[in-house]
Amino acid sequence: MNRKALHKISYGLYVVTSRKKDGFNGQIANTVFQTTSEPATIAVSVNKQNFTHEFIQESNVFAVSVLSKNTPLKFIGHFGFKSGRDIDKFEGINYKVGRTGAPIVLDNAVAYLEAEVIKEVDAGTHTIFIGKVVDAEVLTDEGPMTYSYYHEVKRGIVPKAAPTYIKEEGKGGGKMAKYRCTVCGYTYDPGKGDPESGIPPGTSFEELPDDWVCPVCGATKDQIEKVE
Ligand SMILES: Cc1cc2nc3c(=O)[nH]c(=O)nc-3n(C[C@H](O)[C@H](O)[C@H](O)COP(=O)(O)O)c2cc1C
Repeated sequence: MNRKALHKISYGLYVVTSRKKDGFNGQIANTVFQTTSEPATIAVSVNKQNFTHEFIQESNVFAVSVLSKNTPLKFIGHFGFKSGRDIDKFEGINYKVGRTGAPIVLDNAVAYLEAEVIKEVDAGTHTIFIGKVVDAEVLTDEGPMTYSYYHEVKRGIVPKAAPTYIKEEGKGGGKMAKYRCTVCGYTYDPGKGDPESGIPPGTSFEELPDDWVCPVCGATKDQIEKVE
C-alpha cells in the first residue's frame, strides 16, 4: 500500500470552534466537508485528545471559519499547534458569538458556518461530528486556503510566479542553508526570511536572534535542523 495516495486527497483549511459553559476554544482542521445539501449538513473529524473535542461534545454545537489563502502561518500555528489547555486561544483574536453561542473566528476568514450536532460517529482516534448548518455567511471575496497550498508555503515551496517568491540569494549573493523545524516541518529559507516576524530576506539562520521561534509552532532555535 502506498500511503502517499492519501496525500493526493485535497482539502481546505478551517478553524473549528465551540463553547463549553462560558469558555471558548477552537482548533485548525482540514477535515471539514459538506455531507448533505437538504438540509445542509457539514462534518468534521476531531481527535479525541483535543481540547476542542470536549467542547463540541458538551455543547453539541460548532462553528467553522473558512480560512483565506493569505492566512499567516503564525495564525495557523496558534490554533493548530497549541492547545487551549495551555493558552486562551481567543486572546487578541477578532471573533463574534454566533447564533449557537459558539465563537466565530473572523480574522483571516472568508466565510463561516455554524452547526448543531445531529450525529457523532466514533472513528477510533477521532470523532466525526455531523452538524446541521443553522447559520452561514460569506465575509470576503478572497480565495480560500487549500491544504496543499498551506504545505507548499510551510515547506517554503512557493511557485516562482507567486508574488511572495524572493530570489534565493544571501546578502553576499551566496546560497545559504535552509533549516527545517523538527516539530512541525516548517522550513526556514534565508532567501525569504521570516517577514511575519520582521526578519528580512537574506538573513541566514545563524543571524536570526536567539529568541527567534518557528513562526508556525513556536519551537525554539535549537529545535530546528539544517536541511542537508
Ligand atoms: C494543517 C493542520 C490541519 C489539522 N487538521 C486537523 C483535523 O482535521 N482534525 C483534528 O482533530 N486536528 C487537526 N489538526 C490538529 C489540531 O489543530 C491541533 O491538535 C490543535 O492543537 C488542537 O487544539 P486544542 O487542544 O486546543 O483543541 C490540524 C492541525 C494543522 C496544523
